[in-house]
Amino acid sequence: MLNVTVVGTGYVGLGTAIMLAQLGHQVTGLDVDARKIDQLNLGHLPIYEPGLDVMLAENAERLTWTSDYTSAIPHADVIFICVGTPSLPDGRPNLGYVESAARHIAANLNGKVQVIVNKSTVPIGTGDWVTRIIEDATDPQHHNRYFVVSNPEFLREGTAVSDSLYPDRIVLGGDSVALQRMRDLYAPLIHQNFTAPGHSPRPAEYTVPAVVETTLTSAEMIKYAANAFLALKISYANEIAGLCERVGANIDEVVSGVGFDGRIGHRFLAAGAGWGGSCFGKDTSALITTGQEYGYDMPILQAAIDINSRQRDIVLEKLRKHLRLLKGKRVAVLGMAFKPNTDDLRDAPAHDFIQRLTQLGATVIAHDPVAMPRARHEWAYLSYQEAPSAHAAVRQADAVIISTEWSEYRALDWDALALSMRTPIIIDARNVISDPLTVHATIEQIGKEL
Ligand code: UGA
Repeated sequence: MLNVTVVGTGYVGLGTAIMLAQLGHQVTGLDVDARKIDQLNLGHLPIYEPGLDVMLAENAERLTWTSDYTSAIPHADVIFICVGTPSLPDGRPNLGYVESAARHIAANLNGKVQVIVNKSTVPIGTGDWVTRIIEDATDPQHHNRYFVVSNPEFLREGTAVSDSLYPDRIVLGGDSVALQRMRDLYAPLIHQNFTAPGHSPRPAEYTVPAVVETTLTSAEMIKYAANAFLALKISYANEIAGLCERVGANIDEVVSGVGFDGRIGHRFLAAGAGWGGSCFGKDTSALITTGQEYGYDMPILQAAIDINSRQRDIVLEKLRKHLRLLKGKRVAVLGMAFKPNTDDLRDAPAHDFIQRLTQLGATVIAHDPVAMPRARHEWAYLSYQEAPSAHAAVRQADAVIISTEWSEYRALDWDALALSMRTPIIIDARNVISDPLTVHATIEQIGKEL
């Protein structure tokens, strides 16, 4: 059992802290946002993530929440930096929170061997930069006592619990003393000999994660290269979808046929409104920026970004094709979160849809199964109405855009919904409707005709 402190209680920090407690470690979660800490101390999660609340409650005695660096750092064997790195206007990540965390950690190191782990997705070279910040702020006689490691996170929002307990791989970059401690920390995960929580049992086909040990810089690079590849894969499917529409092919059948090639696989080829969220857009842009700093162009990644933004335009063009004038029209937007099973609204396609539709004079009625309360704050500057249910949003609408593939939208009686609309125009930007409707309606999907 090790003492661990996790700085930052966003999706990555909370997932990491609660997972490490499940492995048996004593974990302190630190956040400068006192409101989040108050909530956590009351046993409430400040985010929506399926199953994480149960795991929080089950591990309560191994978890402490605080805003105080002086109590959280000195006793820690391992200190994780999991703070946010939001994008700056020019696309580069803002490292202000990382810098602040590094300075506070430096000020409270205890002079014994401590490992500082970068888990936030940070630009290549940040590990060395954090090392320098700490070096500058600490007594030179302690310089060989702390180590900076890169241990990128690969969990997805919505499936964070199982992704963190049953990962494909654990990537560790740093020098050998630090990596030994990281292997100790993750031993229960590496050997899968921890007690799995009842609500998230070990999948039958799962064995153990691959452990990749490498340098700090290579570990940082692995994270970006992985996210950019996944972003590329989705943009590739979206580009092919556009051609499918033109030649009269069906993208679902095309990617299904393509994906049986084991070298390609079926995952992350779902065409639609494109990727959103806090990672793919930000990380792909950041990688391109890093390339530019070294005088190196990355045209494939730029194309992936361009295709992704074109996808959002395509959705609106499809709507316009049928409604012609948007002014005065009533448009329902189903799904606000950037993907299902999360309340995360960052870079969600729905945001752009709502913003552009209202700019064009349409009335927007939006619904999301979990993200509406968060949207009330974060999207307060957008002028849309909230609907208590998908049915209520769609009733008397001139058109509906399905922007997030929540399973409850798949399960809706689309025949009945079409009948309740003023004009039954359905822009299914996530290809959730699988059968043609029996009533008269216009359905537009991405990469196929229904
Ligand atoms: C992503 C990565 O999948 C994680 O491995 C990584 O740890 C994380 O970023 C991160 O860097 O923190 P996440 O953003 O939570 O995770 O969500 P994903 O499930 O990857 O979805 C990203 C976006 O791609 C969503 O908007 C989703 O709707 C879209 N998507 C995904 C598609 O449009 N098509 C697909 O086939 C798959």
